[in-house]
Amino acid sequence: MKHFEASKALAEAYKFRNAARHAGPVSTRAFVQEAGQVVLVFDPDVSRAVLTSKTFVGFNYFREGLTRSAELGDELWLIQAFYEASMLFKEGDEHHALKRAFHRMLETACSEVEARHEQVRAYLCKRRACYGNALEFAQAYVRLVVGGVIATLTGIPLRRVWRALALRQNVFFYIYHPARQRATNGALRHLFGDAPRPDPGSPAGLARLLAESLVVMGVDPLIGTLCASLVDPTPERFDSGVFRYCPTSFVSRVCVQTVALDGIDFAPGDVCYAALLPSAQALACPEKTRVAASLSFGVGVHACIGKHLSLVMLRQAEAVYQAGFAEGFAGRVEVAADGAFLAFRSA
Ligand code: HEM
Repeated sequence: MKHFEASKALAEAYKFRNAARHAGPVSTRAFVQEAGQVVLVFDPDVSRAVLTSKTFVGFNYFREGLTRSAELGDELWLIQAFYEASMLFKEGDEHHALKRAFHRMLETACSEVEARHEQVRAYLCKRRACYGNALEFAQAYVRLVVGGVIATLTGIPLRRVWRALALRQNVFFYIYHPARQRATNGALRHLFGDAPRPDPGSPAGLARLLAESLVVMGVDPLIGTLCASLVDPTPERFDSGVFRYCPTSFVSRVCVQTVALDGIDFAPGDVCYAALLPSAQALACPEKTRVAASLSFGVGVHACIGKHLSLVMLRQAEAVYQAGFAEGFAGRVEVAADGAFLAFRSA
């Protein structure tokens, strides 16, 4: 509630997007609240400065909402434990060590996705009639492939993983959204039950954290990118599309040291939402320049760990599409931004 004005502006900003053009007309807006400022940055250069500066750090923006949920009797232990363990909300050595530890597992996951390509293609092409529009195709592809990676990481049967992926919801809404947290907590319960978490530094603990990251953070931007690539009237390669469509629009940080940026004086405790969306000039640039300037996968210490895996999946999805679906889909989908993500719904 204390961020009410800023939340309203953020909701508007999140909605202001279509498949290929998103950035709002303003650069930076600050809302002064009781507990400090909430600043919305729209200029990609300023976002880059925020995200690569040590004066801003990640913070667990769900903690307050989860505490409130618990007071109201809603126990969301599994998702809460994920946020506490996730590298997204860590800094320093602990963050760095986690990122390094994931490296090998992610390489293995990429090889697995490449090795399973033929199987995935055959499965989806055989069920061609089940996918009436781009969204259904994108969801089926992502659930199949991400589900396969999770099943290998955790040893959980693929059908149970699919069910969990169908239960989950996007939690990166512009406000804390209890029902979405509950749904994703339910998805994690469906996967892991109430068994105690393995030691976070053990191979099983790391595999679980990566599986949870895929469930909570990987699915929505992948589906968004695939849909955007399929509905754009001037499509480009799916893997290059991710740099144009920028499926994750904003990320947030908290200021830890006084600094002035873009005419705003930040003080410790100020919250900053930094847009990742490309500028109009960047969108007009040749692909190589656009990709180099892109913030689609974030920048700085918190840049996405799933970037390479996502690019492999997008390339594979395009090959499946070309092999079995190139005549397109009868049903239409339209953009329906969902929180921080570029999302679509059946028209
Ligand atoms: C098209 C696909 C994807 C996009 C566009 C994307 C985008 C992003 C962005 C923008 C960030 C930065 C967050 C921040 O700075 O606060 C991020 C971080 C992260 N992403 Fe992704 N992501 C994608 C896929 C994935 C996948 C498949 C995974 C699972 C392996 C994943 C896991 C993570 C994790 C764990 C972080 C936190 C990294 C850190 O804090 O150091 N993402 N992602």
